[in-house]
Amino acid sequence: MIIAPSILSADFSKLAEEVKEVEAHGAGMIHIDVMDGHFVPNISFGAVVYRWLKDKTKLPMDVHIMIENPEKYALEFIKAGADFLVFHYEATQDPLSLIQFIKSQHVKAGISIKPNTPVSVLEPLLRYVDIILIMSVEPGFGGQQFMMQAVEKLQYLKNMKKKHSYEYLIEVDGGINLETAKIAKDAGAEVLVVGSYLFAHKNRKKIIEGLKSI
Ligand code: DX5
Ligand code: ZN
Repeated sequence: MIIAPSILSADFSKLAEEVKEVEAHGAGMIHIDVMDGHFVPNISFGAVVYRWLKDKTKLPMDVHIMIENPEKYALEFIKAGADFLVFHYEATQDPLSLIQFIKSQHVKAGISIKPNTPVSVLEPLLRYVDIILIMSVEPGFGGQQFMMQAVEKLQYLKNMKKKHSYEYLIEVDGGINLETAKIAKDAGAEVLVVGSYLFAHKNRKKIIEGLKSI
């Protein structure tokens, strides 16, 4: 199980230290939530913030862009150091072209769907993507409750991956704690994004080890 701490819940006044700490405790990637105030009702930060983290950590940067017009900004996010660039299916007319563009830049391409988007819309894209991010909360804010409708989407992706030998990673984002992590893992999740449950706790080592040992 790969743990991907979401820096949205970290202390931004000491971001590099926060990232180094979770890296030392066994995190597998850093999840970076970019929000534009249009696609989601919240504004977080853009490429100018996370590019300074690039040489502070060896962890891959998993950049989740919750923005409109992702094709317009994709290159900027890649140049800032994204190792995975994950955009939203709902935000673009032509997801396949964007996947191909991201891959042409030697970056892993990912796609995400919101809770009310059926997973079946991804079917034609499964063979092309490197990672699929199932939102288990409405995107926009950390600290929300895990929505159970994510479970059957994860199961679908797990079954399709097995059936067709697809190579994508299955990632889940929102409301992850020890209890929901177990549910998500059983359903097929391979990467757990974790924000508030991790950064709100003093003993982050214990939290990461707990999630990894499920
Ligand atoms: C929500 C973000 C999540 C969020 C997860 O839009 O995509 O990555 O930070 O936070 P928690 O783990 O607190 O639900
Ligand atoms: Zn996210």
